[in-house]
Amino acid sequence: MQLSSKLPNQGITIFSTMSALAQRLNALNLSQGFPDFPAPPDLVEALCEATRNGHNQYVAGDGWLALREQVALQFQQRDQVTLDPLNEITITPGATIGLFAAIQATIHTGDEVIIFDPSYDSYDPAVRVAGGVPVHIALDAPAFKVDWDKVAAQISPRTRMIIVNTPHNPTGTIWSYQDWQQLIALVEQHDLLVLSDEVYEHLIFDGAKHWSALHFPALRERSFVVGSFGKTFHVTGWKTGYCVASAALMQLFRQIYQYANFCGNTPAQIALAQYMQQHPEHIEGLADFYQNKRDLFNAALQNSDFQFTPAQGTYFQTVDYSHIRPDLNDLEMCHVLAQEKGVVAIPISVFYQHAPAHLRLIRFCFAKTEQTLELAAQRLGE
Ligand SMILES: Cc1ncc(COP(=O)(O)O)c(C=O)c1O
Repeated sequence: MQLSSKLPNQGITIFSTMSALAQRLNALNLSQGFPDFPAPPDLVEALCEATRNGHNQYVAGDGWLALREQVALQFQQRDQVTLDPLNEITITPGATIGLFAAIQATIHTGDEVIIFDPSYDSYDPAVRVAGGVPVHIALDAPAFKVDWDKVAAQISPRTRMIIVNTPHNPTGTIWSYQDWQQLIALVEQHDLLVLSDEVYEHLIFDGAKHWSALHFPALRERSFVVGSFGKTFHVTGWKTGYCVASAALMQLFRQIYQYANFCGNTPAQIALAQYMQQHPEHIEGLADFYQNKRDLFNAALQNSDFQFTPAQGTYFQTVDYSHIRPDLNDLEMCHVLAQEKGVVAIPISVFYQHAPAHLRLIRFCFAKTEQTLELAAQRLGE
């Protein structure tokens, strides 16, 4: 039988590769983005209770209403935007399927989609599967700021969407109010859609503010916003997230999503809704919780020759190792660190379509216990 791949150049993701390496070497895994500490006990208990109470069958395709209401409340309080939980919010099994469905719903053959590199690895393949053309625009280290003139120059009559990710994986940077204003000017001028990946929306440090696409009235009718309860509640394995969009966009989204997944996990949604109602302090304290971890890790790294600017958001710290082993590319450096130091990181070049040749950056995930972070930083500092 003749088989032909729809994504012929796609191998196994670097996250699976590096996590497998960490396991094989029994090394500290600071590569893939997930916590190594437990989920909140009351959340786990709420999940058990939901299953015990018989919530073990399909939930409504668009999600458990009480959870959609919690999402609406969050946007109301933070962004002063009123959402209709019935028609503008869908609970999805993770953010990834939300991103995928939003792209499949709106991107047609030949449509161009602007992606800023380094970029989360699911955007490009999702665009290709839809028949679209990813147009990658590289952000330059160390600031990774968007060059808006460059973006304007890349817009063509086929451009349909711009994908935004703030706070940004892997660089830990966040978009300023001015970035959004620049984006608004372009999308209005060229009538473009925005897909805003905001999975790290609560992980924002040093008193900075997260601006959601939904905060801006000009973007309301042309944006999808995707979030992840996995990141916010330390339960990445529950794969539960959400997508928010105007009713018209959400209708297109649901047409695709209902056949991709129909619905998410029922007891997880019930547990999350209950936990959010009863524990608003979880989200309120999240920025400090992760900022402490960032500071702990970075303070210990000060003893090393790694160079870095503290992450402004997310649970990732990107570091420059050019003063240590400039002869190694970033993948080689990750292998050396894994073998010699027992610490596994992620090379930044994998987040680029065409990585700059002299990129000497790797990413550590600091969603780890203090013990793991101290041990990792101590080994890296040696
Ligand atoms: C930027 C970004 N978007 C989306 C996701 C996926 O989130 P989920 O696990 O909810 O699918 C991740 C997970 O690492 C991410 O870093």
